[in-house]
Amino acid sequence: MEFVTYEVKGQVGTITINRPKALNALNSAVLDELNEAFDSVDLNEVRCLILTGAGEKSFVAGADIGEMSTLSKAEGEAFGKKGNDLFLKIESFPIPVIAAVNGFALGGGCEISLSCDFRICSENAIFGQPEVGLGITPGFGGTQRLARAVGTGMAKQMIYGARNIKAAEALRIGLVNQVVALEELIPTVEKIAAGIAKNAPIAVRNCKKAINEGIDKDIASAVAIEEKLFGDCFETEDQRYGMEFFLDKNKEKVKEPFKNK
Ligand code: CAA
Repeated sequence: MEFVTYEVKGQVGTITINRPKALNALNSAVLDELNEAFDSVDLNEVRCLILTGAGEKSFVAGADIGEMSTLSKAEGEAFGKKGNDLFLKIESFPIPVIAAVNGFALGGGCEISLSCDFRICSENAIFGQPEVGLGITPGFGGTQRLARAVGTGMAKQMIYGARNIKAAEALRIGLVNQVVALEELIPTVEKIAAGIAKNAPIAVRNCKKAINEGIDKDIASAVAIEEKLFGDCFETEDQRYGMEFFLDKNKEKVKEPFKNK
């Protein structure tokens, strides 16, 4: 792949968007390669993913403006669908995906981070949806996911005003969970990912599914989704082992890794 790299350390995989000449902007080739990278993840081996951008300046500076500049209405819609299909895949990816946002997360960059489970950013991060300044709407889910993440009032103010915000404000409005120094970003996110990867994988996946599938439902339907996924964890080797380990009061015993079974 030309614009995307994929690396696995232990049980954590890192997908890096690497198109530094255009500040990692998303053109069709990058979207295709990201699709390929997600498809290539071995879910028996990897238990948590990190998505980041190469370099120290930009996570992703948006969809590629050069490529979009000559699109017809139908082609614009198709380009939106291409991005949306990929971002839906990331959002519903079976294992957690953490966005490590290192710099600009504008337009499609803010949107791809919003399709991840949560965001950790560096102090130089800038988030925003500048699309109305280019004569378009956000097109890779920004009108929907930003509003769901930070509330409609804040999302509308950011989107209508094409207003960029810095890391501290992103933290204040709940767009990111944590802000760290740039050099601490990857080590911090790797530590968080490793902490997730050591927990029972079937349970972690079912938590993601329950939250994603229940969040827009009425509470009775939502807890019914949880019940099913809760039930699904029982009779797994990991559930049996996790509970037996707790109930066995032998303090000398060391907890073994979960088996994903
Ligand atoms: N698309 C294509 N190329 C881009 C790009 C983008 N989104 N963002 C940056 N680049 C390119 C620049 O054209 C420039 O290329 P050249 O060296 O060939 O001139 C290179 O990356 C470096 O960028 P700058 O020289 O502009 O760097 P800077 O430090 O002066 O500014 C910036 C950085 C503020 C991020 C600025 O590049 C910028 O405003 N980029 C566009 C951000 C944007 O509007 N994103 C939203 C795109 S629309 C969208 O994403 C729609 C959607 O929802 C699907």
